[in-house]
Amino acid sequence: MLVIRLVSGPAGPDALVLPVRPGGPDSPDSPAAPASSAQLVPTAVPPGDDVRDEAAAVLPAARLTGSAGEVRQHLRPGGSPSRLWLLGVGDGDERDWRTAGAALARAAKDETQITIALPAEATTALRGLAEGLLLGSYRFRLTEAGGRPALAEVEVLVDDPDALAGTLAAARATAETTRLARDLTNMPSSTKNPEWFAAQVAEAASGRPDLHLRVRGPEELAAEGFGGILAVGGGSASGPRLVELDWRPEGARTHVVLVGKGITFDTGGISIKPVPAMKLMRKDMAGAAAVIAATLGAAELRLPVRVTTLAPLAENMVSGSAFRPGDVIRHYGGLTSESTNSDAEGRLVLADALAYAVRELKPDLLVDLATLTGANAVALGKRHAALYSENDALAAGMLDAITAAGERAWRMPLADDYVEYLASDVADLHSSPAQGAGSVVAALYLREFTGDLRDRWVHLDMSAPSWSDDTHGELVKGATGWGVRGLLRWLATLG
Ligand code: BES
Ligand code: MN
Ligand code: ZN
Repeated sequence: MLVIRLVSGPAGPDALVLPVRPGGPDSPDSPAAPASSAQLVPTAVPPGDDVRDEAAAVLPAARLTGSAGEVRQHLRPGGSPSRLWLLGVGDGDERDWRTAGAALARAAKDETQITIALPAEATTALRGLAEGLLLGSYRFRLTEAGGRPALAEVEVLVDDPDALAGTLAAARATAETTRLARDLTNMPSSTKNPEWFAAQVAEAASGRPDLHLRVRGPEELAAEGFGGILAVGGGSASGPRLVELDWRPEGARTHVVLVGKGITFDTGGISIKPVPAMKLMRKDMAGAAAVIAATLGAAELRLPVRVTTLAPLAENMVSGSAFRPGDVIRHYGGLTSESTNSDAEGRLVLADALAYAVRELKPDLLVDLATLTGANAVALGKRHAALYSENDALAAGMLDAITAAGERAWRMPLADDYVEYLASDVADLHSSPAQGAGSVVAALYLREFTGDLRDRWVHLDMSAPSWSDDTHGELVKGATGWGVRGLLRWLATLG
């Protein structure tokens, strides 16, 4: 990962980055500046007059509008700095700086070190810039083919480095844990089975005395009645696991349980998926990756809220021991589900985890993240998660945090009209009704397992935004780590 350092004085950098924003120069001697041109943003530590004048002079020729993410390099042979980078930061809000940071990390990948000057009010800029740099430079490679980017260090020029250390630490923890979630999600499923995933959590949590980890294997799951996890994991040669990771800071007044769907590969089971639909199903544990990463981030930032995270992990395979369409599954706590489509496996493992959380952990708030339905993308496109909650204040707080963190979600209705579709002739519930809106019906099914927490529960169907088809802004083609940023912001609002 890139190293970012806060400094207050330039040690004669080789490559200096100056921010620019929309709007022509307002000096009276350049009246004819085109409306689309950019102007320099005043910085806390100004560049030398010569450098500033030269930057201002090249701006019109550089054809910059100042919008976030525009980057131009200007060579100054023999000069110091010898390379000047002009970076569009738009309106200068956090999102714009995040976009700018990501664009800069990619455009300047062949520099080894760059120095960027920030405006005097640097908190927002730093948070966005640092997250953008660290997330935009993310790569997932299992070999070194293609070479590594040279850019290793970014110096950030500010008034008072000490005053901004906390902001940089928050950005770094957020980006680092988002990158972990991306790594876990991008990993091929030949490596990533439930046991491997649990071992990754153990490794990440080791050396932190305030984090407690318990991993249940198939025998314990059977002894305690986790029938949903066992049914879905039954067809695989790699047995299921339930990861329980607990961040328990002293004096915490609020207890949150996070649940994440952890299907390490989803073939659909006996109700097997067609080739195109199965192609990306290694990402079907992105919810588990996000909640685990957010919990590690909460511990790193020492957020004063207790977080218990449950990751039910299973591989949904086709084999002689796989569960069958028409099977009735007995979940943790005793509710039963008739399952006529083994491809609706996520809700079966989540049901166990939600019921366990409600009965045994009795939290104040319950949140689950899951790559639950293809219908998420049908309803909302590729960038928005579907958010469900009966609690308006809780929904609004979560949406605000998600948006502030640079992620996207849209609230969807828990439409009671569809509840009747959950009826089964043989069991308490039908897990995959053929009627109703897919993402909504899945949410209504999960709601049946939330017990007393029904109106203190948020469900996020994040199958669409868990993956990006291209590189743009702080997202890199592949796993996005969706949810880590939003959850960390949200957890930071609870006391
Ligand atoms: N993991 C899939 C959902 C999914 C689809 C995630 C596309 C990401 C991209 C889930 O297990 C699934 O197969 N859902 C079914 C539900 C249906 C059988 C009721 C679906 O969406 O088709
Ligand atoms: Mn499925
Ligand atoms: Zn799935």
